[in-house]
Amino acid sequence: DQAPLVDRFGRSIRYLRVSVTDRCDLRCSYCMPKGFHGFEEPEHWLRFDEVERLVGAFVRAGVARVRLTGGEPLLRRNLSELAARLKQLDGLDDLSLSTNATQLVRHARALRAAGVDRLNISLDTLDRGCYEKLAGRDAFDASLAGIMAARDEGFSPIKLNMVAMKGVNEAEIERMAEFAMRHGFILRLIEAMPMGDTGRNTQYLDLAPVREKLVAHFGLTPEAEELGGGPARYWKTPDGQGRIGFITPISQHFCATCNRVRLSVDGTLYLCLGQEEKFEFRPMLRAGCSDADLDAAIAHAIELKPERHEFIEAPTKLVRFMSQTGG
Ligand code: GTP
Ligand code: 5AD
Ligand code: SF4
Repeated sequence: DQAPLVDRFGRSIRYLRVSVTDRCDLRCSYCMPKGFHGFEEPEHWLRFDEVERLVGAFVRAGVARVRLTGGEPLLRRNLSELAARLKQLDGLDDLSLSTNATQLVRHARALRAAGVDRLNISLDTLDRGCYEKLAGRDAFDASLAGIMAARDEGFSPIKLNMVAMKGVNEAEIERMAEFAMRHGFILRLIEAMPMGDTGRNTQYLDLAPVREKLVAHFGLTPEAEELGGGPARYWKTPDGQGRIGFITPISQHFCATCNRVRLSVDGTLYLCLGQEEKFEFRPMLRAGCSDADLDAAIAHAIELKPERHEFIEAPTKLVRFMSQTGG
C-alpha cells in the first residue's frame, strides 16, 4: 500500500471527492437555493486531462478511493470517459459516484462499463408531491427509473441517500426503509447540514431518537462490516439482509476520523465541508507545473485541513452551498 497522506491531526487522507460540475437539474433546498446564479465559468472547469493528472497525483500520494460528485455529475458531458480514465490509475481501489439519478437510465450502462464500482443515489421521498416541492421539479419518475436501471446493470450495493428533514419527509422514514429493503438497497439517513437555501438549518432533525425507533421496529443490530469509505454507521436486520446507515454530522460528528478532502470543478481543494480552508490547483496546473510541484502542493494543502466543522457552534453561518462543494 501507498504511504498515506497524514494531516496535522494524524488523520490519513485516503478519500478524494471530485466534483465535475456545480450545475444541477434539481434545486433541492438543502443544497442549492432557487434562483442561484453563482456558477463557475466553463473556462474554469478543470478539463479531463487536468482532472486525471491531479487525481493521479493524489493517488500517488496515498488516496485509494475517489468519488465523483457535483452538482449533478451526470450533467458533465462524457463523464463515463473520465471515469474510465480515472479507473486506470494504479493504486485507486474504489471509484464511486453520487447522483440524483434523473439521467441514470441513459448513463448506467456506460458508467458500469467504465468501471464505476459503486453508486450512491439521492432519494429523499417516495411522495411525488414532496419530491417536487423539495427538488423544485417533478423528476420523481425519472429518478426512480434511474435507480432501477442502475440495479439492472448490476450496481451493488446501491445506497439511497435520504436527507431526513423535520416536517418535510420525517414521516416517511419507515416507509423508505421498507422500500429500500424490498429492493435490496441500503437506506442512509442523513442529518441536514447548513449548506443550502438560507444557511439556516431549520430542517435539522436529530437522528439519534429516529435510530432508536428504527432499531426497535426492525430489530436492528450494529453492522461490523465496512460498507464504503464514508462516515455512515450501519445497522442490519436480524436476517442480515436489510441495512440502514446513519450519517450524523451534527448529533454525533465524525470529524476525528475524517479521511477525505474535496476537489471542486474549478480545481479548488476544500479541506473541510464546513470550513473555508482551501487550496487552488488550477493556476499551477495551467502554468505547466511539474509532477514534483504537484506532489509538494498536495502535501502543503493537506496541512491546511482544519480539525472539524462548526455547524454546531455556528448553525447559521453559511460557508458555501453544498452544490459548490460537492457533497
Ligand atoms: P461511501 O463511500 O459509500 O461511504 O460514500 P459517502 O457516504 O462518503 O458519500 P455520499 O456522497 O453518498 O455522501 C453521503 C452524505 O454524507 C452526504 O450528505 C455528505 O455530505 C455526507 N458526508 C460525506 N462525507 C462527509 C464529511 O466528510 N463530512 C460531513 N460533515 N459530511 C459528509
Ligand atoms: N446536508 C446533508 N446532506 C446533504 N446532501 C446535499 N446537501 C446536503 C446538506 N445540506 C447530500 C445529498 C446527496 C449527498 C451527496 O449529499 O443527500 O446525496
Ligand atoms: Fe471532515 Fe470537515 Fe466533514 Fe468533519 S465536517 S468529517 S472535518 S470534512
